[in-house]
Amino acid sequence: MGYVGLPLSLQFARSGAHVLGLDIDSTKVEALNAGRSYIKHISPGDIKTLVERKAFRASTDFSQISSVTAVIICVPTPLNRNREPDISYITETGKALAPHLARGALVVLESTTYPGTTDEDLRAVIEQGSGLKAGVDFHLAFSPEREDPGNPSSVVASIPKVVGGYTPACLAKAVELYSLAIKTLVPVSSCRAAEATKLLENTFRSVNIALVNELKLVYSAMGIDIWEVINAAKTKPFGFMPFYPGPGLGGHCIPIDPFYLTWKAREFGQHTRFIELAGEINTAMPEYVVNRLAEALNERSKAVRGSRVLILGLAYKPNVDDDRESPSYVLMDMLSERGAIVSYHDPYVPVIRPTRDHPQWAGTRSVPWERSAVQQHDVVLIATNHASVNYPQLVEWATCIVDTRNTLAAIPTKPGQVWKA
Ligand SMILES: NC(=O)c1ccc[n+]([C@@H]2O[C@H](COP(=O)([O-])OP(=O)(O)OC[C@H]3O[C@@H](n4cnc5c(N)ncnc54)[C@H](O)[C@@H]3O)[C@@H](O)[C@H]2O)c1
Repeated sequence: MGYVGLPLSLQFARSGAHVLGLDIDSTKVEALNAGRSYIKHISPGDIKTLVERKAFRASTDFSQISSVTAVIICVPTPLNRNREPDISYITETGKALAPHLARGALVVLESTTYPGTTDEDLRAVIEQGSGLKAGVDFHLAFSPEREDPGNPSSVVASIPKVVGGYTPACLAKAVELYSLAIKTLVPVSSCRAAEATKLLENTFRSVNIALVNELKLVYSAMGIDIWEVINAAKTKPFGFMPFYPGPGLGGHCIPIDPFYLTWKAREFGQHTRFIELAGEINTAMPEYVVNRLAEALNERSKAVRGSRVLILGLAYKPNVDDDRESPSYVLMDMLSERGAIVSYHDPYVPVIRPTRDHPQWAGTRSVPWERSAVQQHDVVLIATNHASVNYPQLVEWATCIVDTRNTLAAIPTKPGQVWKA
């Protein structure tokens, strides 16, 4: 019942299916059954209506799987400390559901992962735990999620969905299921082809973002504004698609998923050089931003050490409350290591929850959006450009702003006030 599973469940419930939302997190389950939402862009009203209509309910009880005809798995697929795939959430879920799986049921994996996860790893744990055979006693398929959080036109029902089955009968079953809730389905020949499709989509983004991040540095050295160039290039009606530079990659997908492919490719003696290079360029971005901020302070005869820095935007992209893998944390770490006194403002993240990689920020609160609070800082660093922030006010209140998103392009500013980074 996370960012992927919840909206998908609601879409099925809206379409007439009876949906059981399973999660190991009982606080989420309680919230859902009480008609509350814990994701900013999902309305509590929607959940409440569907719960009242008995089209949707949540539970932590896996034994209820015995009464369902299809199970869709949408659990996390992170990287471990050595940046290797951690598919333990998938295999744990497979083990938990296997003893309860009804003969003839369909199991679909949606979590982004390397080709082979569904028909090797997941199949093995389900077959072992259930005594049933995939393709004979139960159906097995993979269908990647294409959720675009924060994009108001990204409606689950209207995003075409790729589906691959373990056998042709598995594919037919999965297509039948998704046809209930999704308008356009794109069947492919296997689970692996569907898994590989998702990795192509995410690698494509990572590589293109790296390209514009590199060009940002090159053009900046030449005195050319990369955003002006992209805006001009995107007027080309064919053969070009705009990507935008930023302070580094964030979110649960783009910084992580391509490395699932890198890991699996090694098994076949293959190297993913584009993925490695894109990762290198994208992870170097926070350092570039911090150096630009140091230059901006230097221009005012100030050092990073002892300066007060306000990070504006903690979520990894505009208009969402998702702070997973956000480059803002890397910026905060780097600045505080250099002696800056760091605070942040994010209307959607009032307080920082504990994170594995940046535990020192847990409990830190967003500073209020007030003139006196903003003016206490030597520099404001725009890391994420939420639309709800009042930027004309920022320009009035702050003397020095480092802008990684071209947020202030259309707002009149004073000479030397804004540093693009
Ligand atoms: N967030 C996105 O925009 C997005 C887009 C496309 C694909 N994906 C992929 O979808 C998958 C899920 O991502 P997400 O963003 O929804 O993650 P999430 O962390 O928001 O949700 C995962 C949920 O799974 C639950 N969970 C963990 N282990 C479980 C278990 N054993 N049994 C039942 N529930 C369990 C967690 O409590 C959590 O609620 C990932 O593979 C991700 O890469 C995410």
